[in-house]
Amino acid sequence: MNSIATLVKILDLARWAPSGDNTQVWEFDIVAVDHVTIYCHDTRDHCVYDLHGHPSQISYGALLETLSIAASGHGLRADVVREGDELRPVFQVRLSADPALRPSSLIASIERRTVQRRPLLRRPLTTAEKRALEAAVGGGFHIQWLEGPERRRAAWLMYKNARLRLTMPEAFEVHRSIIEWDARHSLDKVPDQALGVDAMTTKLMRWAMHSWPRMKTMNTVLGTWAPRLQMDLIPGLACAAHYVIKADRAPQTIDDYVAAGRAVQRFWLTLTGLGLLMQPEMTPLIFTSYLRQGIKFSVDPALERGARALEGEMAALIEQGAGYPVYMGRLGAGPQPHARSLRKPLGQLLR
Ligand SMILES: Cc1cc2nc3c(=O)[nH]c(=O)nc-3n(C[C@H](O)[C@H](O)[C@H](O)COP(=O)(O)O)c2cc1C
Repeated sequence: MNSIATLVKILDLARWAPSGDNTQVWEFDIVAVDHVTIYCHDTRDHCVYDLHGHPSQISYGALLETLSIAASGHGLRADVVREGDELRPVFQVRLSADPALRPSSLIASIERRTVQRRPLLRRPLTTAEKRALEAAVGGGFHIQWLEGPERRRAAWLMYKNARLRLTMPEAFEVHRSIIEWDARHSLDKVPDQALGVDAMTTKLMRWAMHSWPRMKTMNTVLGTWAPRLQMDLIPGLACAAHYVIKADRAPQTIDDYVAAGRAVQRFWLTLTGLGLLMQPEMTPLIFTSYLRQGIKFSVDPALERGARALEGEMAALIEQGAGYPVYMGRLGAGPQPHARSLRKPLGQLLR
């Protein structure tokens, strides 16, 4: 029998779902013991990485998948209906007992799953690991692996792409608002110690992030190679592989991106269960999608030109074969990170 205590336990686990920059773009309204309404919003009005809302929509999917997995631990099936428009979607989630349902093996990974932005081991994935991850994304999606020379090409692509990220005034504002300084953990941001840079570079970044003129000065005097080396090139090389999750059909609606988010979260939880770690690498995909959809993303035309120059390289690497890339990153075995984002307490997420 369902109870309010059970529902609270389910939501308390569901809130561990990942979201871009730990924005947790949702609020829960408990309507009844078997009914929760989830109010979502994207961050397109202030986040240059979310101008079409797709990263937020992927995050909604990750949340709904986590909720369903958590509910399975109580023998409950979660049926979801979306209402509302694309900007303010509302998900009605109804829980019902299902005697045929077994607790998902992914439950144990929900709180343990976290992003690792530091180097991973280069040990190749085993066939069994790959098969488990390919099965995890489920019907409608498949994985392209980038290993060996393609891993190196992906690392260099990330390194070049990071220059756009670090010299873009719009991205500067986002980074400034989402980093929590001097922190190992953060309830609603990304702690600086989870960024994957050394103490000296962190100090310099913190100084430069005081203002855009300072950041521009630092970029001119020192260049951007030190953070790019530490945050993009070295980790890009130090991993088992990069992966691209592809949809079999071109995603078009918010529901397609929500479905992609569900697949991403199954993939992430499965790799956590296998003792692996991963870091999403979404900005090249995002900038390429802006170019293709004619979305202007920077006041600086040189940055749009820079993104265009990388588009061909990106397409040659990840658009071979069938499918439509919806998510990408790098993964491998390695140590759990020392620092990570936490979550707002459930009380703060309740309407
Ligand atoms: C849609 C989406 C896009 C993301 N893109 C990136 C990314 O490009 N680079 C990165 O380092 N982390 C990325 N992340 C990871 C989030 O920053 C991370 O999940 C969040 O800060 C919470 O931290 P946790 O996963 O360690 O709990 C992304 C996560 C989501 C859900």
